[in-house]
Amino acid sequence: QNSHPLTAYFEQVVGTDASKSQVEQARAVPGFPNLSYRGGTAEELPFPDGSVDLLTATTAAHWFDAERFIKEATRVLKLRGCLALFGDGDDMKIHYESCGDRLNNIYEEVKQILLPYMSSKITGPNRKLKDLFEAIPFPNKERIEIIPIKQQLSIKNVIGFIQTFSMYQAYLRANPCTASALLERTTSRILEEMKVSSTEAKVDFIIEYFCVLACKPE
Ligand SMILES: C[S@@+](CC[C@H](N)C(=O)[O-])C[C@H]1O[C@@H](n2cnc3c(N)ncnc32)[C@H](O)[C@@H]1O
Repeated sequence: QNSHPLTAYFEQVVGTDASKSQVEQARAVPGFPNLSYRGGTAEELPFPDGSVDLLTATTAAHWFDAERFIKEATRVLKLRGCLALFGDGDDMKIHYESCGDRLNNIYEEVKQILLPYMSSKITGPNRKLKDLFEAIPFPNKERIEIIPIKQQLSIKNVIGFIQTFSMYQAYLRANPCTASALLERTTSRILEEMKVSSTEAKVDFIIEYFCVLACKPE
């Protein structure tokens, strides 16, 4: 998903992921002639030394081995090449007419249920890439903690977004029946609060992103 917008600005874009199924799904999307995909980890990138202008990762870098990734980034980046890592925090807000607060309470309740299944990679000291940022040896670097982005999402997409959380997937593995029931119950509660009958109804959804930017010195 993150590779697509980059194709308008770079001659060649290579999307990589450790997950075979992510790479297969990405390859199935046509229409980007200057985009290719490779399997493999961020700690062992398939690029020659000093060959990359921009190395970026979306909502993924918290999973990386920071020390090995930074070493690899330093190897593959050109001089003055840039590192740009970003992701979403767990602060999300829903707005819809006068029932935004009640919708946010429903979302908070779901989060409380899923919290025990949240990886320490997300809650730990590297939260929002703090440790990774400190470890970057380039003097020219910046970490921005709160970048609010507002988008319109259907109720169906909000539920789909929750479904992609690693903590929801962990909860699903541990409690398959309860996990599906949680999503069904949450959908019904949202529909009831909004007084609508279709999950295509849209809400304003605000996600706070954060990012780490750094430039390899000459
Ligand atoms: C939330 S998804 C982000 C998907 C992707 N960045 C996109 O734009 O569609 C996080 C991804 O990080 C990948 N990942 C986790 N650890 C990784 C690693 N060490 N090296 C490469 N990819 C990794 C997972 O396989 C997962 O697909």
